[in-house]
Amino acid sequence: MNKLSFKLGVFIFTIIILVEAILFLFLYTNLANSREEEVLENLLARGNSHRDVLEKRFDQATLNHVALMESEAESLVVITNRDKEVIVQSEPLQPEIQHLLNKSLQDVNHSGKVLDGHWRSSQYVATVSPITLEGEMAGYVYMFSPTMVVQRVINQLSNQFLLVGFIALFLTVLAIFILSHFITRPLVRMKKATEGLIEGKDQVNLHYKQNDELGQLAHSIVTLSNELNRLKQDRKDFLASISHELRTPLTYIKGYSNIASRKGLSEEEQNHYLGIIKEETEHLTQLVKNLFDLAKMDQNEFSIEKSPVSLCDLMAKVHEKVRPILSEHDLSLRVRCDAKVVVNVDAERFQQVLLNLLDNAIKHTPAHSHIDMSVSVENGRVGISVTDEGEGIPEEELPYIFERLYRVDKSRSREYGGSGLGLSIVKEIVEKHEGEVAVKSELGQGTSLTIVLKKEDLLTYE
Ligand SMILES: Nc1ncnc2c1ncn2[C@@H]1O[C@H](COP(=O)(O)OP(=O)(O)OP(=O)(O)O)[C@@H](O)[C@H]1O
Ligand SMILES: [Mg+2]
Repeated sequence: MNKLSFKLGVFIFTIIILVEAILFLFLYTNLANSREEEVLENLLARGNSHRDVLEKRFDQATLNHVALMESEAESLVVITNRDKEVIVQSEPLQPEIQHLLNKSLQDVNHSGKVLDGHWRSSQYVATVSPITLEGEMAGYVYMFSPTMVVQRVINQLSNQFLLVGFIALFLTVLAIFILSHFITRPLVRMKKATEGLIEGKDQVNLHYKQNDELGQLAHSIVTLSNELNRLKQDRKDFLASISHELRTPLTYIKGYSNIASRKGLSEEEQNHYLGIIKEETEHLTQLVKNLFDLAKMDQNEFSIEKSPVSLCDLMAKVHEKVRPILSEHDLSLRVRCDAKVVVNVDAERFQQVLLNLLDNAIKHTPAHSHIDMSVSVENGRVGISVTDEGEGIPEEELPYIFERLYRVDKSRSREYGGSGLGLSIVKEIVEKHEGEVAVKSELGQGTSLTIVLKKEDLLTYE
């Protein structure tokens, strides 16, 4: 029996029984004692009042009258002379009463005395009241009350507690039922649901509407399963996109290498085809490199090594690198920076970030336009922006451009050789630096991407 409902039931049952036992013990002793005291006090009072009557008139008629009065009551009276010889009695004497009559009465005074008060061990409790006539001891009034009276009360109490015990047992069985319905059953359902998830089931349905802890658990399991499904779908989509991305340049390479190897081609034609093959190979290499970077980032194997870097120097280096491609597209790059700004970043990775941003700007800006790369400091934080005068990005696409393999215009991006990984790499690198990337864009006007570093990474600025 390893069920939660059973364990809880047993626990409740034990608590009820324990409380009941303590109550019983407490009431039992209190009730028995007070009942006993009450009986004894009454008995002594009655004995004393009989004695008082007898002290006024000590004759046979009064004696008979007293006996007659007691014969109707549950208690009984025995009156003896001073030598303890019975003069009158309300009922025939039992051996135990006889035994009590023989007890020594040395320390009995006029207010009487309890002879035997042990209701548990004896059949009777008894009191004695001495009769004195004109200063002389004339006899004794003995009163007896059967202990049955007290015992009856105690027995009643025991029976009631026994009844409560049975009710507790019944309630426990009921509680186990209810608990198993309200607690264990939903838990078992959730357990089955999670097992289903492990086995690869897509959908979990837990119809638990209550907003208690179990409801929250059910909600978490459903959220988890949805998240799992989303991840599965993402992985499928990603794999599909990746295979497509890899297949396209490979198809080009295969096709153009077939054409290039044909006989009778002029050198010029051959060079043209080889150029395309080279371009596609470079694209493929870049794609694989980017994917590899992202995979490393996902596995947290991607470390950044920060060092003090002058942003101006870094930008000049990047400018130098993109100079040929800028002139190829007839574009000019304006770099605005402050030589005093030194930041704490991974120079290699940051160069990659800037190259990616510039690459995008170059790809999406028409010839004879300007691209701006500038540094600004606001509230102690450095911002690096790359702004172009290109086609811009539609507002509804902005939230997605940092997603992997996302491209706004799929067919045209392909022309530019983009695969939609650049900005996701930018975002990962900047986030590794605990910075932020923001984008502003207007269709037909241009796009501006800004990287804001955290305060601590700005080392010097005057
Ligand atoms: N400056 C920009 N102007 C207009 N559109 C842009 C600009 N930068 C990015 N985009 C859009 O956002 C998409 C995602 O950019 P991202 O750099 O991630 O991919 P990509 O440039 O297509 O490919 P990759 O960078 O991997 O070669 C681009 O395909 C493009 O549609
Ligand atoms: Mg790009």
